[in-house]
Amino acid sequence: MATAAPSSGPGTVNLQYDGGTLALPLIKGSEGEVGIDIAQLRAKTGMITFDPGLGNTGACRSKVAFIDGEKGILRYRGYPIEELAKKSTFLEVAWLLIHGELPTKAELDTFAADVTRHTMLHENFNRFFDALPKDAHPMPVCAAAVGALATFYQQPETDQHVHDTITRLIAKMPTIAAASYKHSLGQPSIYPQNALDYASNFLHMMFATPCEHYHVDPTLARAVDLLFILHADHEQNCSTSTVRVVGSSKANLFASISAGISALWGPLHGGANQEVIEMLDRIEAEGGDVHKFVELAKSKKDHTRLMGFGHRVYKNFDPRAVILKKACGDVLTLLGIKSKQLEIAMKLEEIALADDYFISHKLYPNVDFYSGIIYKALGIPVNMFTVMFALGRLPGWIAQWIEMRHDPDTRITRPRQIYTGATCREYVPIEQRG
Ligand SMILES: CC(C)(COP(=O)(O)OP(=O)(O)OC[C@H]1O[C@@H](n2cnc3c(N)ncnc32)[C@H](O)[C@@H]1OP(=O)(O)O)[C@@H](O)C(=O)NCCC(=O)NCCS
Repeated sequence: MATAAPSSGPGTVNLQYDGGTLALPLIKGSEGEVGIDIAQLRAKTGMITFDPGLGNTGACRSKVAFIDGEKGILRYRGYPIEELAKKSTFLEVAWLLIHGELPTKAELDTFAADVTRHTMLHENFNRFFDALPKDAHPMPVCAAAVGALATFYQQPETDQHVHDTITRLIAKMPTIAAASYKHSLGQPSIYPQNALDYASNFLHMMFATPCEHYHVDPTLARAVDLLFILHADHEQNCSTSTVRVVGSSKANLFASISAGISALWGPLHGGANQEVIEMLDRIEAEGGDVHKFVELAKSKKDHTRLMGFGHRVYKNFDPRAVILKKACGDVLTLLGIKSKQLEIAMKLEEIALADDYFISHKLYPNVDFYSGIIYKALGIPVNMFTVMFALGRLPGWIAQWIEMRHDPDTRITRPRQIYTGATCREYVPIEQRG
């Protein structure tokens, strides 16, 4: 049993166990959350904690992002996501996440110029892409290519080298992502155009061909920039935790980010926006009966879920979904696109938000509900959706990796386990086994 001792500071909680009582110090965050410091638990009691999925475990102190899932709050370095979405750019947000403060004009100009200068890939990368199957999914291609960057920049880890690696990663990720898409089409990669801004350059590399110029519509470029901002960090999620875990062994930043991309590839993490589009297609193909689908999602006899609804952390609304819903309408109106998918999505949202099941289960649209529709309107193919997520999440991964490296509490991540296998037994020679 654990009881909290009254105290003016964070205080302690007393853990009563068979062998006695242990006072465990409390740690308090700047937004009031309280954690129990169990560093001495095993040494003093011989016991460990058990928390599959780590849903109750704070694995680090962090100053990068704050989420209040009950209130629908997301802030990067203290700045509300709504304000950043309205007033900032992706490169400025990347700087903010990585350095902790908004850049001055001079800092941002230098950063943008550095990123622009490093957009090209080594020519040997052409052979790297050529070696992969022609239908290779762009996500593992990106993970492999980012890992391969480490072979081109093998200097010992110094602050300068980490600084250069950050610039190279942010600069080259769009080039790698677009090249992985071009490879899946059998088209030649398009070289970056350094006269273009970050998002426009990416769209150009995606959609230009050597024989046809591609004019980047600023509306589309702004939509991509916004999507990147909204995905830039989300504290200790699966891929970010992966980046920290890999980096805790002192693996370099390229290797850690490559592992993060792989973690993001899973359908429970970065793949949900693709499933939203597939769900909307299915509803349309089955005659567009939204009510029927909502009933299916509620039924415990059927495993169907309303994709893009619900979140492990947000239990009231996902602030990113609110921003995206408006952006989605704006983009489609500006492009003059009539989207059956958006119509179905709006109807689904309306019905589900008025339904007792969804209200009582605290299920609201999440960021993936609208992002897939915008990606489709932008002409981004479905197998690139998760890659778009990775492009946006990159600065968050980098910021968390740096924070982890500078944190004096960092140790190599090495959880324990409750062993439930066979106890000690004698080896039986193969000829004696039944
Ligand atoms: C995001 C998600 C994985 C969070 O899961 P979680 O916090 O572990 O919640 P659970 O899976 O335990 O679900 C809790 C309850 O809500 C229900 N539920 C959760 N999401 C649901 C959905 N999208 N549609 C219908 N029912 C849902 C579950 O059936 C369960 O009901 P029960 O308690 O009556 O058995 C889950 O909501 C989900 O699968 N959503 C759809 C996929 C998606 O959009 N993922 C992207 C996340 S950004």
